[in-house]
Amino acid sequence: MIKAALTEQLEKLKAEITNCNKENDLQMLHSKTIGRNGIFRELMDGIKELQAEDRKSYGQKVNSLKTEFQQLIEKQQKALFEKGLQKTGAADGLDLLVPALTGSGGSTHPITAIEKEIVEIFTGLGFSVASGPEMETDFYNFQALNIPEEHPARDMQDTYWLDNKMLLRTHTSPCQIRALAQYGVPVRVIAPGRCFRNEEVDASHENTFHQVEGLMVDKNISIANLVYVLKLMLGKIFNKDVTVRLRPGFFPFVEPGFELDIKCLICNGARCRTCSHTGWIELVPCGMVHRNVLSMSGVDPDQYTGFAFGLGLSRLVMMRYNIADVRMLNRGDLRELSQFYSYT
Ligand code: DAH
Repeated sequence: MIKAALTEQLEKLKAEITNCNKENDLQMLHSKTIGRNGIFRELMDGIKELQAEDRKSYGQKVNSLKTEFQQLIEKQQKALFEKGLQKTGAADGLDLLVPALTGSGGSTHPITAIEKEIVEIFTGLGFSVASGPEMETDFYNFQALNIPEEHPARDMQDTYWLDNKMLLRTHTSPCQIRALAQYGVPVRVIAPGRCFRNEEVDASHENTFHQVEGLMVDKNISIANLVYVLKLMLGKIFNKDVTVRLRPGFFPFVEPGFELDIKCLICNGARCRTCSHTGWIELVPCGMVHRNVLSMSGVDPDQYTGFAFGLGLSRLVMMRYNIADVRMLNRGDLRELSQFYSYT
């Protein structure tokens, strides 16, 4: 016969199972009872102490008890599962076993992607990555860049002025001044960032756009260094050798200042619509850092020279992906944006 103490224990376990309301607890009760080292193992071991003629009925008794426990646990498992379904709403027709929809992992904005590539190229050339605030002072955005108050060059960049007399930076060039102040010379930095201009928005103008500023100041830096670095970067971005040319361009913070053009990648210089039938595409405004800018930042312009550039990212992205309207980049339409560089 089953010992009284064990019978009592079995009754207690039975009650625990029927009252159990947590999956984990039920799992424990399973191990304690019908599990490999549970109480039924102990009961079966008890058979050895019995007389041969009692063994059969004892074995049958223990086995039928074990089946009873098994059924009890299964019943409780099912009850708990159904209770869980009700909580999640699954009982009302939501099928939790249907595979999840995929493809919602998001994608990288083409501007972010190209910015990352440019950062990688320049860090590979030993440039550091600098930054500056989007809300700037007149000093950093204009004065320290050789654009004093009342200078007509201020009209080149329609500015969002703020109530606190500060402004939304119109270009990333203030990062040049901040980098010179922070690192001194020699210096090699790029500064990617968002800029703002009070522009009428149309297919080729946005009021919010991205630039990457570049600055390299050291002894004996020349225009040749500028051309080499920009040509190398553009070749990597467009994944082919690019032909470049410099045209004069006016920017108060460089002298001489240039527009760096590349030979049109669509028609290879044969003149087409993309290059407005010129064979060239204007891509990077740049130049040799103006003596005044160096002196204002405490750098001796007789000892040091440098180049700077301000690369607009929208034009680059539009050319690379053949996008005709710049507004596509800012309107946040996921049907358009998810076609680029998906992570999924
Ligand atoms: N900051 C100028 C702009 O946004 C672009 C520029 C021109 C940047 C010449 C430069 C430079 O660093 O050297 O219009």
